[in-house]
Amino acid sequence: MIAVSELTKTYAGASSPIIDGLSLQVKAGQSASIQGASGCGKSTLLALLAGFEQSDSGSINIAGQPLQTLTTSQADTFRKNHLGVIFQQFNLLECFNVWDNVAFTARLKGNYDKARQTLLLENLGLAHHFKSPVSRLSGGEQQRVAIARALNHQPEVVLADEPTGNLDEQTSDSVSNLLFAYCQEQGASLVVVTHSGDVASRAQMQFRLHLGRLQAV
Ligand SMILES: Nc1ncnc2c1ncn2[C@@H]1O[C@H](COP(=O)(O)OP(=O)(O)OP(=O)(O)O)[C@@H](O)[C@H]1O
Ligand SMILES: [Mg+2]
Repeated sequence: MIAVSELTKTYAGASSPIIDGLSLQVKAGQSASIQGASGCGKSTLLALLAGFEQSDSGSINIAGQPLQTLTTSQADTFRKNHLGVIFQQFNLLECFNVWDNVAFTARLKGNYDKARQTLLLENLGLAHHFKSPVSRLSGGEQQRVAIARALNHQPEVVLADEPTGNLDEQTSDSVSNLLFAYCQEQGASLVVVTHSGDVASRAQMQFRLHLGRLQAV
C-alpha cells in the first residue's frame, strides 16, 4: 500500500517546486503508471517514495510506515524489508555476478530461495548468464537483472523507473507482462514510470506528471 498526500519538493536553487501538492494511493495488488516529459520530476517522485530524498511537506506512507519519521539507517532497513526499486540507471553491484546481484537483498532479508531465483532469472531470459559479471552484459540484460533483483525478495511495494527503456519491443512486452503479473500475484503495489504508452496502459491507474501533480490519463 502506498499513500501519498499533498507532497511537495523543491530542489535547492530551483525557482519552483518539482513536486507540488501531489497525492497518490496505490493499494496492495494495484498498479499505477506515470508518464510525463523528460525532466518533469518522475525519478524525483520515485526517490521520495523510496526515502532517498526528503520532501519539504506532505506525507508518504508505505506499507503502513510513515517515511518522514525514519532516520537514514532506518530507511535503509525499511527499503530492504519492504521495497523493490528498479533504478533508471540500474545501480547494479559491478563487483558481483548476475546471481549474486539478484540474491543480495533476499539474503540480507533472509528469504533467499534458490529455486525461486532460478525461475525468475529464466523467465527474464537470463538463464545463460547466472555467473556472468554484470559489467559484461548488454544494457537490456543489465536492465533485466535490475528487475530480477527488485522482485526476488518479494517486496510489498515495487517502484520501477523506466523498466523497459533499454529493451526491444518483444522483450519489453514479455518483461512488462512478468512485472505486472508478479505484483498482482504477490499483492504488491506497483508504480511504473515509463515513456512507453504500451507499458503505461497495462496499469490499472494511469497518470501523467505535469507541473508537479498527477493528472489521470
Ligand atoms: N539532486 C538534484 N538536485 C537538483 N536538481 C535535481 C536533482 N535531481 C534532479 N534534479 C532536477 O529535477 C528535475 C527533474 O528531474 P527527474 O530526474 O526527476 O526528471 P524525470 O522526469 O525523471 O526525467 P527523465 O524522463 O529524463 O528521466 C530536472 O530538472 C533535474 O535536473
Ligand atoms: Mg527519470
